[in-house]
Amino acid sequence: MDKILIEGGKRLSGAIPVSGAKNSALTLLPCALLTDEPLTLRNLPRLADIDGFQHLMNQFGISTTIAGSRPEDFGRVMTLEATRITSSVAPYELVRKMRASILVLGPMLARMGEATVSLPGGCAIGNRPIDLHLKALEALGAHIELAAGYVRAIAPDSGLPGGRYSFPVVSVGATENALMAAVLATGKSTLHNAAREPEIVDLCNLLVAMGANIEGIGTSELVVHGVSRLHGATYKVMPDRIEAGSYACAAAITGGEVTLMGARFDEMEATVQVLRSAGVIVEQVAGGLHVATDGPLRPLTISTAPYPGFATDMQAQLMALLCKAQGSSVLTETIFENRYMHVPELNRMGAHIETSGRTAIVHGVEKLTGAEVMATDLRASMSLVIAGLAAEGQTQVHRLYHLDRGYERLEEKLALMGAQVERVGGD
Ligand code: EPZ
Repeated sequence: MDKILIEGGKRLSGAIPVSGAKNSALTLLPCALLTDEPLTLRNLPRLADIDGFQHLMNQFGISTTIAGSRPEDFGRVMTLEATRITSSVAPYELVRKMRASILVLGPMLARMGEATVSLPGGCAIGNRPIDLHLKALEALGAHIELAAGYVRAIAPDSGLPGGRYSFPVVSVGATENALMAAVLATGKSTLHNAAREPEIVDLCNLLVAMGANIEGIGTSELVVHGVSRLHGATYKVMPDRIEAGSYACAAAITGGEVTLMGARFDEMEATVQVLRSAGVIVEQVAGGLHVATDGPLRPLTISTAPYPGFATDMQAQLMALLCKAQGSSVLTETIFENRYMHVPELNRMGAHIETSGRTAIVHGVEKLTGAEVMATDLRASMSLVIAGLAAEGQTQVHRLYHLDRGYERLEEKLALMGAQVERVGGD
């Protein structure tokens, strides 16, 4: 398994391109199931999860072709053609590796009238049930069966009628599955307390480009008027606001600066406000954001929340940054029950963090020291890289496959900022 070696203590400075958003791409890809015409997605990030999803789509008989990108380019163009679906089953051996596979349930149900998907296991950050996905699809008229570790959704012979569902908890994935099922329903569907993340807006924009009829885009009340068919489209994936925020923390913890090319200020307001409160300078510049530091980092009290609140996916990265603040910060993780896997590893690097349930107290320290650390989940891994960039000496982050799921060509982007990093194989 690969690991990354980081020589810390260097002030970072440079400009990096922000890649296409992983959490948008993973819901745009299954939209190919909703039409028998070609769907071309541009600005797809080169990530392990995207490769995994491509393989899953091939499993259904969907042809996928990659075009238009040179090795040195960031991002790829993929055309998916679901002319004929030869299987409506997402098997365990694929789903267990990538829980986002559950996002084929809604579109497969809409296209084929039935879908069978292995139940995703939990993951490092929590048990992550899918009960809201299933309740939403039932509300739209699907019959749901659970057997032998699989979930099977079946639509009436007359087609999915559509319906109304009010989410008791804001769920990004369940909103996405419900939307992709509702667009081809025979009637109207109303989703209350729907997720409002920019990735949901990106999904709605693609569906509308394919001919869907959706009202309330960007709000928590979505109304979908089902249509009989959708056509193909060419669509550019939005930039990754979490990747951009991660590199902002990386630059800031070293007392450096970075220009994030392609970052969208209006989709990152909570992150921008939090960084500014911590004493980081964030300015909108032509085509992106500029992040710099001017003086000590200040401690914060912050809770994660659904969009437009501070994103849970930024919590670990912010925590690493706050390890160097002058004072104690209080972080509360309200979305997932076990998203502090990075804490023991950060403490091994000299941080002083105490956790109790969903709250973490981050006591700022003068210095961090490089160490051998273990990545456990995607965002925890990035927080270790961020800490390693500021630590004295060398940090080795093992199990790099966690990072490769969500950060396109990480070491190249860090090198563009002047970091001394090296990926080494096998350990
Ligand atoms: C998406 O996961 C993202 N993943 C996550 O990003 C992100 O952390 C999360 O949304 C929250 O923003 C993708 O988009 C591929 P949820 P998702 O359904 O859809 C509970 C990353 O690091 N819940 O919004 O799985 C759930 O347990 C990843 O890029 C139910 O109880 O998240 C959690 O507590 C990690 N029942 C809360 O809702 C359900 O049926 C929010 O989960 C579904 C969710």
